[in-house]
Amino acid sequence: MFLVVESVHGEQTHSFLKSKDWLHPSLEPLRTSNGSIGFPLVGFGHEDIALVAIRNHLGIEANIVVGETKYRPPVDPHHRLLEAVSTWLEDNKVDTEVNDLLPAKWEKLGELVLLPRELGQTTTWRKITEHPKSDDLWKGMAHALKVTSLGLQAPIANDTYRSAQVKMLLGSPHVQFSDHGVVFAFDASKVMFSSGNITERRRIGAMNMQGEVVVDAYAGVGYYTFHMLVNAGAAHVHACEINPASLAGLEAGAQVNGLLDRLTVHPGDNALTLEKLRGTADRCHLGLLPSSEPVWEACMLALKPNGGMLHIHMNVEEEKIDSWTMTTVERFQNMVANHGLSFNVKPMHVERVKWFAPRVRHVVLDLSFRP
Ligand SMILES: C[S@@+](CC[C@H](N)C(=O)[O-])C[C@H]1O[C@@H](n2cnc3c(N)ncnc32)[C@H](O)[C@@H]1O
Repeated sequence: MFLVVESVHGEQTHSFLKSKDWLHPSLEPLRTSNGSIGFPLVGFGHEDIALVAIRNHLGIEANIVVGETKYRPPVDPHHRLLEAVSTWLEDNKVDTEVNDLLPAKWEKLGELVLLPRELGQTTTWRKITEHPKSDDLWKGMAHALKVTSLGLQAPIANDTYRSAQVKMLLGSPHVQFSDHGVVFAFDASKVMFSSGNITERRRIGAMNMQGEVVVDAYAGVGYYTFHMLVNAGAAHVHACEINPASLAGLEAGAQVNGLLDRLTVHPGDNALTLEKLRGTADRCHLGLLPSSEPVWEACMLALKPNGGMLHIHMNVEEEKIDSWTMTTVERFQNMVANHGLSFNVKPMHVERVKWFAPRVRHVVLDLSFRP
């Protein structure tokens, strides 16, 4: 049963029926060619009560009609995925445990979903990927997740580039998406993007960097660079990066975000490129895990004579965070003395970004250097 009103009264009627719990939650409304809309009612047997209530409370004329009932597609993506995978297994008469093919979570980067690597480690998964109709499964899964491309995560390579290793299952690895006012554009099969660092990207973006010159020693595809330029208001960022695939993403992002004139990219090893930036920066960002130690000294020397701030990323065992902070401050105090500088080194904050491994935290130490 549908309660039909003219479309202009649709919103008001919808809210009223919902407030009374008379609206059927999982059926599609009925659209008619004469510009009216029918709301599906729960089968409570008192449709005339709804009619009278609409007339009396809202002053709207309505009718009850019997129409074809259509169920809405489920809103929960896990549910849609379950349906897609079950349908494929049934259609292809594959006898296997559906749960083995269902990820608990995934990473969505624009039009691409990256499935977790654990999913690819089961024998069921191996069997399925060899199936001649596996493409249909990928299409069904991508459709259920409302994307056009699908890939399977592999561990981040233990190389200098921290390269992503992704096995593409469907579509293109080139992604473009926005993240708090910043657009990223890169090849996700070649570059890692750690969505887990979102709180840190936001924290950095919320800082006041108005008028500052910033050095990003490990810029990647601009994870922090773009937030510092767009959200924190940095005047200029010098971005050091060695990986050609990340450099391509950095340049594409600079273009789409309209930042070409406020960004200088320094391709190559930062051991060399930071040399040219001595005494130029108000702030340096050192975003490499497990440790950015190789550039501690060069970044300190990149600060202007009146000092500035370093943001030092590091993986540290939970119970050692305080002692690591103190040792790090001492290390910098020694460097300051060795270079005959007169900076006072002060730890301002330790941000616990995420768990990197059991008992190991990814932390960021904000260290101030002032004369
Ligand atoms: C972990 S990624 C950046 C990740 C990002 N900061 C985040 O937290 O999501 C580190 C980047 O540093 C770059 N990199 C590593 N060693 C480098 C070096 N010696 N000089 C310049 N860039 C380097 C890698 O290519 C990679 O893009």
